[in-house]
Amino acid sequence: MSKKVLIVSNRLPVTIQHIENKLHFHPSAGGLATGLGSIYKKGNNLWIGWPGFHDYAESDKENITSQLANDNMAPVFLSKKDIRDYYEGFSNKTIWPLFHYFTEYATYDKGLWDAYVRVNKKFCDAILHHANDGDVIWIHDYQLLLLPSMVREKLPNATIGFFQHIPFPSFEIFRLMPWREQILEGMLGSDLIGFHTYDDMRHFLSSVNRILGHGNTMGQIRINNRLIGVDAFPMGIDYDKYAKATHAPETIDKLKRYFKILSNQKVVLSIDRLDYSKGIKQRLQAFDIFLEKYPEYIGKVSLILIVVPSRVKVEQYNQLKNEIDTLVGALNGKYSRIDWNPIHYFYRSFSFHSLSALYSSAEVALITPLRDGMNLVCKEYIASKLDKKGVLILSEMAGSAKEMSEAILINPNDIDQIVNAMHQALEMPEAEQIARNEEMQEKLKRYNIHRWVEVFFEQLDFIKRKQKDLNMKMVTGKTADLIIEKYKKSKERILFLDYDGTLKGFSSNPKAVSPDKELLSILENLTANPKNKVIIISGRDKGTLGEWLGHLNLDLIAEHGVWLKESGKKWIMIDNIDQTWKKEIRHILELYVDRTPGSFIEDKDYSLVWHYRKADTDFGELRARELLSNLNYLIANMDLQTMEGNKVIEIKNRAINKGKAARKWLNNTENDFIIAIGDDVTDEDTFKAMPENAFTIKVGLTASVARLNIKSSDEVRNLLKGFME
Ligand code: UDP
Ligand code: G6P
Repeated sequence: MSKKVLIVSNRLPVTIQHIENKLHFHPSAGGLATGLGSIYKKGNNLWIGWPGFHDYAESDKENITSQLANDNMAPVFLSKKDIRDYYEGFSNKTIWPLFHYFTEYATYDKGLWDAYVRVNKKFCDAILHHANDGDVIWIHDYQLLLLPSMVREKLPNATIGFFQHIPFPSFEIFRLMPWREQILEGMLGSDLIGFHTYDDMRHFLSSVNRILGHGNTMGQIRINNRLIGVDAFPMGIDYDKYAKATHAPETIDKLKRYFKILSNQKVVLSIDRLDYSKGIKQRLQAFDIFLEKYPEYIGKVSLILIVVPSRVKVEQYNQLKNEIDTLVGALNGKYSRIDWNPIHYFYRSFSFHSLSALYSSAEVALITPLRDGMNLVCKEYIASKLDKKGVLILSEMAGSAKEMSEAILINPNDIDQIVNAMHQALEMPEAEQIARNEEMQEKLKRYNIHRWVEVFFEQLDFIKRKQKDLNMKMVTGKTADLIIEKYKKSKERILFLDYDGTLKGFSSNPKAVSPDKELLSILENLTANPKNKVIIISGRDKGTLGEWLGHLNLDLIAEHGVWLKESGKKWIMIDNIDQTWKKEIRHILELYVDRTPGSFIEDKDYSLVWHYRKADTDFGELRARELLSNLNYLIANMDLQTMEGNKVIEIKNRAINKGKAARKWLNNTENDFIIAIGDDVTDEDTFKAMPENAFTIKVGLTASVARLNIKSSDEVRNLLKGFME
C-alpha cells in the first residue's frame, strides 16, 4: 500500500442535500473547500469530513459512503445534536467570533465544549479507520483544534500537519477562552502548525508561551522532546483555473448576458459568505455615502452584492441576513430609477463560470472584511483579469492584504476612506490599473495553491527529518545498552554529572530541588564502587552543594568551576580571581530588578546572577534580551562573560568555566570510561573539554556539542541505575 495524504476538515468539498427523497451533491463554498479541491483527487489520497446534513437513513449512509469513495472522500456523519452543539455551537458561536475579535458574540457554554470534544473524537475514529503507517494526516481549521493531539495519542509516530484558515487572535483575546489550555494542547499534537500570516503565527506562539509556558526558537517548539514547527504559509489559489475560465464558452455565454443588462454601467463587485466578519453592512453604508457624495455616479454604477448563505441557524447570522435585506431595500428604495438599480442583490451561491464572468467583467471589487484569515475572493478576482483592467479595494484586516499590497488598501471601519477608495478606483487611469494588477498577478501565479501545498509538505518533511536526527542521537534502548555494556567492561571510570536539570528535574519550589532519596541512593551506590570517580559539576554555590552532597564519597565543582573539592578534603579556589567588577555590574542588575517585578539578584562568590523565573514570562524574556544586549556591550572590554541559563542570566569571569575545572580530573590516562552529562549552556564547556572517546550527553533536545541526547533527568537516572551493581 503506497503512502497517502489524508485531508481532514469539518466540511467535505462537496455538500449533500436531501431534497424530495433524493440526494443532491453540490460543491461546498468557502476558502478551504475551493482551495484544496485540486489536491485530494490525486492517487489514493482521501478527504475525510462532514457531508453536510444530518437526517440520513442507514441506507443513505451506505449510498453516500460509496458515492463519495469514488471521488476519494470519506464521510463523518454528524447527528442533529452534533451539528447544533459542535458545528453551530462551539465552532461558530465560540471559536469563530472570538478568533475574529467579535468577543461580544462569543458564548462560553460547557455543553457546547463537551460536544466539541465528542465530535473531534468522532473525527479521530474516522482517521484511525483509514490511516496506515506512514500516511500524512493534514488536519484543517478551527472546528478540529483538538484532533491533532487525539490522533497523536493513538498514533504516536504519525506525520500530522495542521493548518488554521482563520486568524489566531492576540493573547489578550485568546485568554478569554475558558478551555484555552486544552485548545493549545490539542493543536500541539501536530508536527507542523501553519497559519496564513506571520501575525497569526506570532499570536499563537505568544499564547503557547504565556499559557503553557513553552518557549520557541525561530518558530520551533520542543515539548517532551518532541519538535513542533510553527510557520506562516499564505494560501494561494489555483491561478490557471481562474485565468483559463475567462475564455471558457460557459463564461463567455454568461458574460454576454451580463453585458446586455449592465453595458452602460460600471460594476462594483462584492462577494462573500453571509458573515458578520465580512463587513457587508459597513460596505453598504459606504456605498450609500458614495452615491450621496458623488451623485454624478447615480445611474452609472451598480453594486453587485452576492451573499452566499452560511450558518443561518446561528442567531447572529440570521440577524445579519435581516439587516442586509433591510439595508439593501432601503438603498434601492432611496436611489432606484425605472431603468437602474444601485444594488443587484443575490442571496445564493453562484456557479464557477458565473463567478468567473463577474470577476472578469467587474471594474471594481470591493472586499472589506472587518477580519479575515486570508480571503480568496480578492485573489480570484485579480487572477480572472486577463486584460489586467480592474481595481481591487481590499481591507487591511484580510490576511491577503499582506501579499496584495498593490490593491487600494483600506481600514474597513473608516467609512470615508472606503468612499474615497471607491471614487479613486472608478477614476483610476487604465495604465495604473494594469501596472498594479500585473504585480499582483505575478505573485499569485508564483505562489499558487500547488506551491502552497508543496511548501507546507516540504516543511512538514523537514520537521520530521529533524525529529529523526534528534532521535538518532537519543540515549534510549540500544544506545543506552551499549553505554552500559562499555561501562561494565571498563576498569577506571570517571563520571561528570551536572546537578540541576540533569540529576534533578526543575521545580519552582526551592525545597524540591535538594537531593531526594532515590538520587542519594544512586550516588551512594555509584561512589561505593572503587572503579568509579564521580564528580558533581554545578553552577550552585559551594555552601549548598557541600550541604547536600558533601557527605558522599564524591568530588564537587561549584559555581561553574570557581570552587573545587575532592572527597574528604576542603574547598579550594581554582585560581585567584578578580572580583572588582561586581560593584558596577550589580548596579545595572539592580536597575533591572526595579523595572522587572519578580526578578532578583543572587550574589555568588565569583559571579552575579539575575533570576527572572518569578517574573511575568513574556516580560521577563523581553527584559532578559534587553539586559543581555546591554551587558554584552558594557563588558566588551572586560574579562567577563554573560551566560544564559533557564530563566537566569549570569555574569562571571571569562577564564572560569566548567570545562577548565573538569580538565583537572582528566589527567589520569588509565581512565577507560568517561561520561559527562549536562543540560544547559554552561555544560557545553564540560563537553568541549572531554576527550574523543568520552560519552557526552545533553539532557533535552536543544543544539549541543554533546554527541548524544537524553530525554530528561528521569532518563539520566535510569541510565545511572543501569550502571549499578
Ligand atoms: N464561492 C463559491 N460560491 C459562491 C461564491 C463564492 O464557491 O457563490 C467561493 C469563492 O470562489 C471562494 C470561497 O467561496 O473561493 C470564499 O473563500 P474566502 O477565503 O474568500 O472566504 P471564506 O468563505 O473562506 O471566509
Ligand atoms: C471558512 C472556514 C472554513 C469553512 C468555510 C465555510 O472558509 O475557514 O472552515 O468551511 O468558511 O463555512 P461552513 O460553516 O459553511 O463550513
